[in-house]
Amino acid sequence: MDTLTHTSEVRERIDAWRRAGERIAFVPTMGNLHAGHSSLVEAARARANRVVVSIFVNPLQFGPNEDFAAYPRTPEEDRRLLESLGVDLLFAPLAEEVYPRGMESTARVHVPGLEDILCGAFRPGHFMGVATVVVKLLNLVQPDVAVFGEKDYQQLMIIRRAVEDLCMPIQIVGVPTMREADGLAMSSRNRYLTSEQRAVAPRIFEALDAARREIEAGARDYERIEREGLERLRSAGFRPDYFEIRDANTLDRPGEQSRDLVVLAAARIGRARLIDNVRARRS
Ligand code: PAJ
Repeated sequence: MDTLTHTSEVRERIDAWRRAGERIAFVPTMGNLHAGHSSLVEAARARANRVVVSIFVNPLQFGPNEDFAAYPRTPEEDRRLLESLGVDLLFAPLAEEVYPRGMESTARVHVPGLEDILCGAFRPGHFMGVATVVVKLLNLVQPDVAVFGEKDYQQLMIIRRAVEDLCMPIQIVGVPTMREADGLAMSSRNRYLTSEQRAVAPRIFEALDAARREIEAGARDYERIEREGLERLRSAGFRPDYFEIRDANTLDRPGEQSRDLVVLAAARIGRARLIDNVRARRS
């Protein structure tokens, strides 16, 4: 596996593959890789004969009081893992090449309607930063297919929408969330948890799954289910940002017709902000 940092080298390498008729899959990440990321790489390998992974801790998607500086960076371990997974190319761009005029003056991608709700309401500018860097990376790599986790459900929806609206000929694949044995969604930010907080952390998934069971058993009083979800999180010791039931295809509040739902939550504990979601199917 080669590691390239310059965009010109990446373009050259990928152009050669494309001329040889190879199919290319791409997995963008911020590194500190875990089994959730590995499952995306495996999904990528199943869909293409060349797999490109990027590692870039994107400053544009972090707010001024967020954890950009503290975000875990483990380049050596990441490299070894990707090598063992048979990845063809690791792209680790330099911030100067991603934002040559500085990130404040870069052209930006907005996805109105989706970027300001749920996590977007608590992290202003976050999804603009995500959509902008993902569109840039997709334009650099020009893959046939790009793979993202359902763990970041709103992010996945925003990327699908940006790619479709900007007419980018790339298939976007979503991969189910990888969890620890106790249900906690794997995340680089789980490292911020103390052992006491780690013991409480699976309660987010438990609360989401309890809501799913109620919905699937026929409950339609979504506001009550949301209030109870928030209460469960609070009494477990979290400071929840939201606990909401949404239409899984639009992220709108569910209407009478919505059958495919998603229950999403974000909650803070200690210095970590954890997010998770669970799909629920109404009969
Ligand atoms: P990062 O948090 O590193 O995640 C990279 C990809 O891995 C995302 O598509 C994310 O949804 C997926 N992922 C994370 N945890 C997962 C889990 N437990 N199971 C399955 N997939 C999981 O998300 C980002 O980076 C950035 O916002 C990025 C898209 C790279 C743009 O900077």
